[in-house]
Amino acid sequence: MQTNPLWFKDAIFYELNVRAFADGNGDGHGDFIGLTQRVDYLVDLGVDCVWLLPFYPSPLRDDGYDVSDYRNIAPLFGTLDDFKTAVEALHQRGIRVIIDLVINHTSEQHPWFIESRSSLDNPKRNWYVWSDTDQKYQETRIIFLDTEGSNWTFDPITREYYWHRFYREQPDLNFDNPEVQEELLDVMRFWLRLGIDGFRVDAVPYLFEREGTNCENLSETHEYIRRMRATIKAEYPECILLAEANQWPQELIPYLEDDEFDMAFHFPLMPRLFMGVRKEDRADIVHILEQTPAIPERTQWCVFLRNHDELTLEMVTEEQRQWMWQEYAPETRMRLNLGIRRRLAPLLENHKGKILLLHAIMFGLPGSPILYYGDEIGMGDNIWLRDRNGVRTPMQWDSSAHAGFSTAESTYEPVIDDPVYGYHRVNVETQASDPDSLLNMLRHYIRVRRNQPALGRGSFKMIHPENQSVFAFERYYEDPSGHQTRVLVVANLSGSQQQVVLTDLENCLGTTPYDLLTDAVFEPIQTTIYTIDLEPYRCLWLQLHVEGDLMKEATSENLYENR
Ligand code: NOJ
Repeated sequence: MQTNPLWFKDAIFYELNVRAFADGNGDGHGDFIGLTQRVDYLVDLGVDCVWLLPFYPSPLRDDGYDVSDYRNIAPLFGTLDDFKTAVEALHQRGIRVIIDLVINHTSEQHPWFIESRSSLDNPKRNWYVWSDTDQKYQETRIIFLDTEGSNWTFDPITREYYWHRFYREQPDLNFDNPEVQEELLDVMRFWLRLGIDGFRVDAVPYLFEREGTNCENLSETHEYIRRMRATIKAEYPECILLAEANQWPQELIPYLEDDEFDMAFHFPLMPRLFMGVRKEDRADIVHILEQTPAIPERTQWCVFLRNHDELTLEMVTEEQRQWMWQEYAPETRMRLNLGIRRRLAPLLENHKGKILLLHAIMFGLPGSPILYYGDEIGMGDNIWLRDRNGVRTPMQWDSSAHAGFSTAESTYEPVIDDPVYGYHRVNVETQASDPDSLLNMLRHYIRVRRNQPALGRGSFKMIHPENQSVFAFERYYEDPSGHQTRVLVVANLSGSQQQVVLTDLENCLGTTPYDLLTDAVFEPIQTTIYTIDLEPYRCLWLQLHVEGDLMKEATSENLYENR
């Protein structure tokens, strides 16, 4: 693997649930053997890094986010040797691996908690947050609102309450305890020694608790993260740390600014992309981007459309939440906690134009995109499965039994089998052979995006044309050799033809726009006003070439082929 400490800034990430991806041993659960067999698929898709959801031993109360052993693999998913083989296979093909690090809490079945709850004077007592009253930290919100009525649960054994931000089966670790702090750094070392490239750190804002606060983003949490970064980077300089902090931009920025994380998910942006395309109006997207301060050069946003959780509506106003529920979750069963348990394709009515539009915008915005497994083929969901399992069903590889996912009699959750999204229609094999399929279109987008450093690294400036249905911005990048690239991203959020008049194009005079996505060459820009006609849901990535440049580009080195 080439050494480049900022590799993540140009990377395309792929969120992969080992359990859902491919079953290598025929027991109905995806595993590391299956993943190893499917590396070619990831290579063809063109992704640079996979983020593996938790695969540790776990009672699976929260689908693995309830860890009962930090230094092992759940037997269902294989062995440590299978894990090493998968990581090696991915690395050999140029794909990096980051793993989920769930440190805010453990499973109640973790031996530490079993000890901790066994008596008041057990040496592990202080590894968790105990109290003789459930009245502490009253200003703290409850996250799993549909299930939990309190962040405290009474434990009959020692007659005290323990603190948990998620399910009651997930007691929070006590980060005020230096032993806990040290132990989790050691857990990180364990996996780094096995060759992984970084961590997606789960539930970051909640590590510490303090009376009189909402127990989120406390200075103590920031301090611990700084320590984590300093320790880990000293030993593994290329390890990246990605923050899962579902917060407003102003709360997120410190995690990136102060020598803490390399990357952070941009949670507030995501629902606004859905608002934009439904309202056919860019206002909400523009508004959140205007509130997003610049971040340090060495850091990067992670942008995404969907993930393994409900589409979270925590970072929107109450009015926006009601609107999103009404528009995107008309049936009660589609709603969960403060979100929507549906996949990308059903949310967008299986409209290929809209799915591609949102990808083109996401790939164009500052940040590294993360795709959620299955969304690249437009997989559907099953809202009747428990919790968020309806968006975690087996990957649909082909039209054979269980979608080619498994040879078992039955699988951990049923494969999607409805008339629209069922595996007979929606699967990798069918789409791979159709040049116009969603899969092949997205492969193309990925390939173009990876060849275009302006999109990974360039500066970002919004353009404000009068037509509100058009969202437009400029990315500009000067590489170390002085080569300048300017790309205008111009997106029609609406389902009808739109004309957009771009103004203030002084910097672009004399250039010829060339759409990186379709290879279409546009009229040269000769005045500071330039008019473009956009088909419904069309997004253009217009690279601006000065005369003669088009020829040069055509023969220039292809970064994608040389990864
Ligand atoms: C965030 C994860 O994405 C979610 O799946 C999990 O339930 C919570 N953190 C608790 O670990």
